[in-house]
Amino acid sequence: MNLKKADEKMQNLSKDGKAPLTQVVVALLLTIGIAVMLSVTLPSSPSQAASEDYNDIENEFEGDAEAIEYGRQRYARRCAYCHGGGGAGAKGPSLTRGKFKYSRKGLTSELYSIIAGGIPNTQMGAFGRLLDGDEILKIIAYIRQESARRAAEEQSQDE
Ligand code: HEC
Repeated sequence: MNLKKADEKMQNLSKDGKAPLTQVVVALLLTIGIAVMLSVTLPSSPSQAASEDYNDIENEFEGDAEAIEYGRQRYARRCAYCHGGGGAGAKGPSLTRGKFKYSRKGLTSELYSIIAGGIPNTQMGAFGRLLDGDEILKIIAYIRQESARRAAEEQSQDE
């Protein structure tokens, strides 16, 4: 019913010659609007955004092979008996699924404060005294690399 009314209205409008102009203006505005939206969203490609999403604070050790090896050794010593070898999860949850319970996005700052401060009333202790800031960041860099490696492995199994 409403459609029919709108239709009639359009016909009336075009009769007195106003409709074409309004339509042209609306179309122009839409085009400009879409162009503006595109220019705002395009520069960061989706894949780029995804891999950098969690880096709210810069972790200079990410991708640094030596630092990651150090992180791996620290992890093996301090974390593996609860979180499993390679971050796979044992007594504590897996840390390499790219998903976290206490941190919505797995932000570097959040993981850092969990590791340094622990989680009250759980077996997850505070490591802020045992590990210094760089050591924690190196462990996080190791966890990131393991997560990426695991995701790639799972993807290749799916294919
Ligand atoms: C004594 C066992 C134990 C040790 C050792 C341990 N954790 Fe945990 N950790 C846990 C448990 C259990 C949880 C989950 C608590 C819960 O879900 O209630 C946890 C949770 C976490 C979380 C949050 C996970 C999430 O899903 O949000 C992170 C991150 C974490 N641990 C990192 C580490 C790191 C890094 C180390 C080594 C420096 C470490 N943990 C050592 C037991 C441990």
